[in-house]
Amino acid sequence: MQDLSQLIAEAKSAFAQATAPAALEDAKAKFLGKTGSLTAMMKGLAKLSHEEKREMGQALGTAKREIEQALEARREELANEKLAARLAAEALDVTLPGRKAEKGGVHPVIATQMRIEQIFRSIGFDVADGPEIETDWYSFTALNNPPNHPARSMQDTFYVELKDETGKLLPLRPHTSPMQVRYARTHKAPIKVIAPGRTYRVDSDATHSPMFHQVEGLWIGENVSFSDLKGVYTDFLRRFFETDDLVVRFRPSYFPFTEPSVEVDMMFTSGPKKGRWLEISGAGEVHPNVVRNFGLDPETHVGFAFGSGLERLTMLRYGIDDLRLFFEGDLRFLKQFNR
Ligand code: DAH
Repeated sequence: MQDLSQLIAEAKSAFAQATAPAALEDAKAKFLGKTGSLTAMMKGLAKLSHEEKREMGQALGTAKREIEQALEARREELANEKLAARLAAEALDVTLPGRKAEKGGVHPVIATQMRIEQIFRSIGFDVADGPEIETDWYSFTALNNPPNHPARSMQDTFYVELKDETGKLLPLRPHTSPMQVRYARTHKAPIKVIAPGRTYRVDSDATHSPMFHQVEGLWIGENVSFSDLKGVYTDFLRRFFETDDLVVRFRPSYFPFTEPSVEVDMMFTSGPKKGRWLEISGAGEVHPNVVRNFGLDPETHVGFAFGSGLERLTMLRYGIDDLRLFFEGDLRFLKQFNR
C-alpha cells in the first residue's frame, strides 16, 4: 500500500499547481473521486483483518480530512485571487477630484464683435446680418466697382458653382460692404447700422486668412458729414481700447464706393504700443452712385461708411502678432481669453 504521507504531499502539490477552479476540481478527482487513489485505498480496507481495518481506517480517515482541508484552502485561495484581480481591474480612486463639465468659451474675434456691437448700439446704431454667399451685383456693381475691377477676379474672390438670374457666378462676399446696400434698400432713412460678419478672399499668410471678419458701418441722413465720421470713429476706438490716449488720422485713399475715401490710422500716445501709426480701417463719404443704389437721392441723403477688420482690432487689443493663431483651434491660446 502506498505511503499515506506521500499521498497527502502529492495531493497538496497537485492542488497548489491548479491555477483555476476547474483544474482544481480535476486534481480533486484524482485523489478523492470515485476512481481516485484515496478512494481506492478505502475500498482496499475490506480485504484487511478486523485489527488492521481499524488502524488503517483511522489513518485513511485522517489523510482524507487533511486532503479535504488542503482542497478547501486552495478553493478559497483561488476565489480570493479572482476577487483581487477583479477589484484591481475595476479600481476606483474615490480620492480623485470630480470631473467638472467644461464651459465653452467665446472666441476672441467674436468677443471683439460683441464689444463693437455693444458700443455702436449705445450710440443708436442697428446691428444687421446678411448672406455670406452674395451676388455679383451687391458685392461689386451696386458699390460702384467698374466692370473689370480686379476684386472681381477669381484670384481675389472665391466663387461657388451657383449662378444668379443674370448667369453670373455667386461670390463669397469679399467684404461686408454689400450689407450697406441690402440694409439701405430695406430700411427707411436715416440709416444707421453696423453689419459684422465673415468675409472671404483668396489670400493666406501671417496677416491674411481666406476667411476673416469685418464690420461695416453706415450712417446716412440729410446732414451726416465727414466730421461725424471722425467723431464717431475716434470715439469708437477710444471705447474699444478703453483709453483716451490714442489719436486718429484720416489719410486720403481710394475706394470705388466712397468719395472722398480714406484710410483710418490710429496711434497710442501712452503704454507699450505708443508712437506708431497703425492702419485700422477704410472709410469715406458714400459715393452718390451708391446712395442711388440704396434707392435714395444723393442730393438729399449723404453720409459715411467704414469697413474694419475684426482680427486686426483683436490683435491690437491683446498684442497678438500672428493672425493664424485665431484659426488653429489651439486651446492653450484660446483659453487665455476665457478665464
Ligand atoms: N470694403 C473695404 C475693404 O474690404 C473696406 C471699406 C472701405 C469699407 C471704405 C467701407 C468704406 O465701407 O467706406 O477693403
